[in-house]
Amino acid sequence: MSSTAIPGTALPSAATTSTVVDNIGVLLTHDSEKPELANAAIVFENGRVAWWGASADSPSADLRVDAHGGCVLPGFVDSHSHLVFAGDRSDEFESRMAGRRYEAGGIRRTVALSREASDEELLANASALIVEMRRQGTTTVEIKSGYGLSVHDEARMLRLASTLTSETTFLGAHVVPAEFVDDRAAYVRLVMGEMLDACAPHSRWIDVFCDDGAFTEEETRAIIGAGQARGLGARMHGAQLGESGAVQLAVELGAASVDHCTYLSDVDVDALAGSSTVAGLLPGVEFSTKHPFVDARRLLDAGVTVALASDCNPGSSFTSSIPFCIALAVREMGMTTLEAVAAATLGGARSLRLADVGHLRVGARANAQILDAPNYRHLAYRPGVPLVTTVFLDGVLDVVKHPH
Ligand code: NIG
Ligand code: FE
Repeated sequence: MSSTAIPGTALPSAATTSTVVDNIGVLLTHDSEKPELANAAIVFENGRVAWWGASADSPSADLRVDAHGGCVLPGFVDSHSHLVFAGDRSDEFESRMAGRRYEAGGIRRTVALSREASDEELLANASALIVEMRRQGTTTVEIKSGYGLSVHDEARMLRLASTLTSETTFLGAHVVPAEFVDDRAAYVRLVMGEMLDACAPHSRWIDVFCDDGAFTEEETRAIIGAGQARGLGARMHGAQLGESGAVQLAVELGAASVDHCTYLSDVDVDALAGSSTVAGLLPGVEFSTKHPFVDARRLLDAGVTVALASDCNPGSSFTSSIPFCIALAVREMGMTTLEAVAAATLGGARSLRLADVGHLRVGARANAQILDAPNYRHLAYRPGVPLVTTVFLDGVLDVVKHPH
């Protein structure tokens, strides 16, 4: 995918203070009064949404971008990714497609390779994945550690991640590393002690993989509690590999999000529905592990807030594409396209407790995308097709490619 300017459109610089995007086929703002508008325009000023309305009424601005009838929507908020790693596990993917089951232990392969990689290699890999994400409409991304699993490497990976996003998550409790398999209690103490001390300054969040082959509920409670005591917000991986108490534990601990939710009991769904914990759904994992797709309809009908994220990682879901996740959610999870798009924008923002992204109400950060498609339904209707032509990051054009 090349990055070239739309003919006749001047590329703005940081000095450009206002931009009007007009001739929009459908503008999706998620505004409570008027969530979407046909034949619309939107104005970005000083990095924020300043106005939106009918294209015929659009005011002038320093720069004009013609959407050519395309759809404009908020940039995607990808609330779950593991971008700091080295190495390839396509062999595992292939054997899963032939019937082998996914196991948490594959994480240790990536740990071994990532520990050996230099800062430059890790950063180059993560940056390339961010570019992929951006070209597919993602403007906010959360990045977890979890492939270092030593004090030095977890802190190193979070330091690198924090150069790419402010949404960094300490996941020292991803799996017990090979050198601690005979003394997992010692590893849990390390995570809660010296490792947390080294990682907290680079992290906004703490996460634990609470599942078979990873960490128990008791260990999870202790680790999350230690992170919260240090001022980190809580997130969890739960119910990926089977039903357990992880989802109810996430609710009890006040986690902002519990992600995967592949195997849910009715009690889990009720607990989520009565809470502010978001259910993070990661259909790239189900695609890539052949576990069953989540029945999102069941969650939405119960009133659960749902986020849709990539979980981009080399083991269980090596996709950077939110449009792919939207297509899977619509095809396999019982969501309408609007619900899936909302889960990948507003839902991601709720998962990260961010108020000014994931929508385009006046005052929001001007993080938006233009599609070479008349409406957002094309995100599922045209799976695998690169529809994003333009991305704005804080009002500045970041990705532009030719429509057609
Ligand atoms: O979110 N579930 C745990 N962690 C990742 C998988 C990581 C891996 O397999 O390398 C996930 O799916
Ligand atoms: Fe994950």
